[in-house]
Amino acid sequence: MKLLIMGPPGAGKGTQAGKIVAEYQIPHISTGDMFRHAIKEGTALGKKAKKYLDQGLLVPDEVTNGIVRERLSKDDCTKGFLLDGYPRTVSQAVSLDEMLFDLSMKVDVVLNIAVSNTILFKRLTGRRICKTCGVTYHISFNPPKKEGVCDECGGELFQRKDDNAETVENRLAVYNNQTKPLLDYYSAKGNLYTIDGEQDIDEVFNEINQILGRLK
Ligand code: AP5
Ligand code: MG
Ligand code: ZN
Repeated sequence: MKLLIMGPPGAGKGTQAGKIVAEYQIPHISTGDMFRHAIKEGTALGKKAKKYLDQGLLVPDEVTNGIVRERLSKDDCTKGFLLDGYPRTVSQAVSLDEMLFDLSMKVDVVLNIAVSNTILFKRLTGRRICKTCGVTYHISFNPPKKEGVCDECGGELFQRKDDNAETVENRLAVYNNQTKPLLDYYSAKGNLYTIDGEQDIDEVFNEINQILGRLK
């Protein structure tokens, strides 16, 4: 199962990706998570990426394509994978097609989670993440039982640096200008499924499961 999950910042890509990879036992490849990990570790990649993430701008395509190519060539991707937040430009999509061609693979399904801007803004500014296990919460829509503490592991919750109002506005504009045109690219290929992302988390997952169930 070779899947892409797309959608604007805050659409619920990471939330749904967690459920999909648990159900279908495929690796979750999030370029945003890879960049944040590299920034935390202070690697050369992290140093290159930091200024872009902090401003809500896209990391240059050649950098992003390079890390994805390396990740997709690992053995655990042969049976399938879920790419979250990549591709994000038409040029990245063309590169992905080339990478997959070289690996004798192709994308089976593109899941597009659609959510309106007002809701996205609330989701992003209210998001909280566990420092220890990475589980995502929302202060109103998906709150932990105890404020600031992870239900799963008791870890401390934090807010992503790019989840402040100003950077969120930039991220939404970048999505509209640079990423949205990709929907036409995949629609033309005939494997794009758009899901109403304004439903409850479990309802969104049910819809995804129905689409993926037909593939099994
Ligand atoms: P990335 O990490 O990919 O961020 P993003 O696209 O902005 O998306 P998010 O992770 O913020 O949102 P999400 O859709 O995963 O939502 P979530 O499930 O967390 O990218 C970050 C940065 O890295 C980019 O700005 C860029 O700089 C760089 N980057 C990454 N990929 C790149 C690429 N390919 N090229 C160049 N640069 C790249 O949910 C959000 C909140 O809503 C949570 O609080 C959650 O609990 C809540 N929620 C989720 N679903 C629901 C629901 N159904 N109902 C109510 N609440 C919900
Ligand atoms: Mg995410
Ligand atoms: Zn935790």
